Amino acid sequence: MERRALITGITGQDGSYLAALLIGKGYEVHGLVRRVALEDPEHRLTRLDSIRAQVKLHAASLESYASIHQAVSKVMPHECYHLAAQSFVSYSFDDEFSTLNANINGTHYLLAAAKNLVPKCRFYFAGSSEMFGHAGEVPQNENTHFHPRSTYGISKVAGFDLTRNYREAYKMHASSGILFNHESPRRGYEFVTRKITSGVARILSGRSKELRLGNLEAKRDWGHAREYVDAMWRMLQQDDPDDYVIATGVTHSVREFVELAFAHAGLDYRQYVAGDPDLFRPAEVNILQGDSSKARRKLGWKHEVGFEELVREMVDADCRAAGIERKGSAAR
Ligand code: NAP
Ligand code: GDD
Repeated sequence: MERRALITGITGQDGSYLAALLIGKGYEVHGLVRRVALEDPEHRLTRLDSIRAQVKLHAASLESYASIHQAVSKVMPHECYHLAAQSFVSYSFDDEFSTLNANINGTHYLLAAAKNLVPKCRFYFAGSSEMFGHAGEVPQNENTHFHPRSTYGISKVAGFDLTRNYREAYKMHASSGILFNHESPRRGYEFVTRKITSGVARILSGRSKELRLGNLEAKRDWGHAREYVDAMWRMLQQDDPDDYVIATGVTHSVREFVELAFAHAGLDYRQYVAGDPDLFRPAEVNILQGDSSKARRKLGWKHEVGFEELVREMVDADCRAAGIERKGSAAR
């Protein structure tokens, strides 16, 4: 049976892994991208390099209902994965308005277009553990109260509520994943894990002498992005739509990440890492730790890659990209 999938945010970390997963499963994969990406593919489509010939890209903007309606009407997808968002929490403090606009209206436009054009399309919304924010309990599960601490978190709560409302009001097969932090060598450079691993590579290659960071005591539940996109797909294969927490269940501080990343490269982080008060957030999420037992039970999903393996893979990849070959580094 022919299956068409539409992925928004296909140029991002998750979008690129998900596209490859769906191609491997025999889907016809379409991606919604900003027009500038089509004009400048060498820079903006790099994560899609290995599968570029197998995906069909359509220009549209999260800010425009008309463009989204047009893209959906062209593709008429059976499954729609809505991953596009202003995804950097820190930036949401600098530009609250565009974060709310893109993330809330973009989700609403896509849901509305799907309802009008392809009401039987299965819809995935990229929810986030940032929705828990200042959570009243550890670990967090699907019943934990939301207390977002940024406009990014607020926008994701709104997207989550919109998705549930379309499910209840219009009987759409609309599900949300509440995904905890997931990383990979494809992670954007501004997120703390990639900032650290690329920083290690720059220091090793002599291009930099220090790494400036903010709050080292924040704790996150870090998994591998490749495994998390598989959970998205599994959600849309269920008979009934629902919401799922996806996490490893293990939490580590930013300091632990830093220590391990530098140690893996044979360095003592205390000689290189400098604190920078400007990198602290006006409101921090101190600890995230997820309980994904529902996903394990209903989706048969669980993580395989642990914290140490993830850190090593990211450091090794950044070192290789910087031309530093080290003995025993894992190639993946
Ligand atoms: P990412 O690498 O930052 O990718 C974001 C994607 O959204 C990019 O393709 C980007 O396109 C697109 N985008 C941003 N603003 C847009 C706009 N105004 N119009 C059209 N496209 C726009 O993020 P990710 O890590 O893959 O995350 C995917 C989704 O999961 C996001 O919604 C994120 O908030 C959510 N999430 C991520 C995590 C995580 O730990 N990674 C955890 C929970 C939830 P350009 O390439 O053109 O910028
Ligand atoms: N980015 C960054 N840069 N974060 C820093 C730094 C720094 O220099 N120093 C310390 N941190 C701390 C942040 O304060 C935060 O507590 C933690 O590192 C993680 O920050 P990010 O890697 O930027 O990710 P995030 O947890 O804010 O958000 C990511 O995960 C969410 C899921 O919980 C993003 O991928 C979101 O899109 C996603 O929803």
